[in-house]
Amino acid sequence: MQRIAVLASGRGSNLQAIIDAISTGELPAEVVGVFSDKPSAAALQRVAPGLRWSADARAFPTRDAFDADLADAVAACQPDWVVCAGYMRILGDAFVSRFRGRLLNIHPSLLPSYPGLRTHARALADSKREHGASVHFVIPELDAGAVVAQAVVPVHADDNAEALAARVLAVEHPLLVAVLRLAAAGRLAEHGTTITLDGHPLFTALRLDSAGVLHVPDDPESVSV
Ligand code: GAR
Repeated sequence: MQRIAVLASGRGSNLQAIIDAISTGELPAEVVGVFSDKPSAAALQRVAPGLRWSADARAFPTRDAFDADLADAVAACQPDWVVCAGYMRILGDAFVSRFRGRLLNIHPSLLPSYPGLRTHARALADSKREHGASVHFVIPELDAGAVVAQAVVPVHADDNAEALAARVLAVEHPLLVAVLRLAAAGRLAEHGTTITLDGHPLFTALRLDSAGVLHVPDDPESVSV
């Protein structure tokens, strides 16, 4: 059984999607810890008290000091995968190197477009017709790691940032679960800047279809994974 540690700063709906997929048997894994930089994060309440770790990042003298405590706590639960699911604090190089290759993030944009914050408002300001979410391996550069899979949603003419965020969030949940199913099955790996799926380099991010299945885009047989 694969051991998943989740980092979250807020509501935790992506964490809940993981928990739900585990409870239905869709995702053969267990959540071994939920870690937050915000002790009041609602995400923490979604798991048993023994699985929660939090510390107020603002009380630490430096980013590295907080990250060191966080990394020790995460390492102590011996995770196979560390998933940033709405974790809103930049992870320092030391944290990333310690967990590199098993560190994933879900980001609310079609990377490489819109790294960073306010992704929905920025997509609207640019009159984008499509927007979405990406799951990528974390590297020291913000939101710049290799993208495993994306889900696309349309942008409607009358959208505001909240409406668009809600449409994106609805596809984030199946996207994250689908990628974690690949990860838990041992099918996904990061080698430097390249991702492999079943041992073969993945040159294009997988795409989530409306049935929640991942596909290799541009593949003549549209391989499902
Ligand atoms: C999600 O939309 C996630 O993609 C985003 O925060 C939200 C968390 O929602 N993450 C980032 O913006 C990371 N840069 P949740 O707490 O309900 O899962």
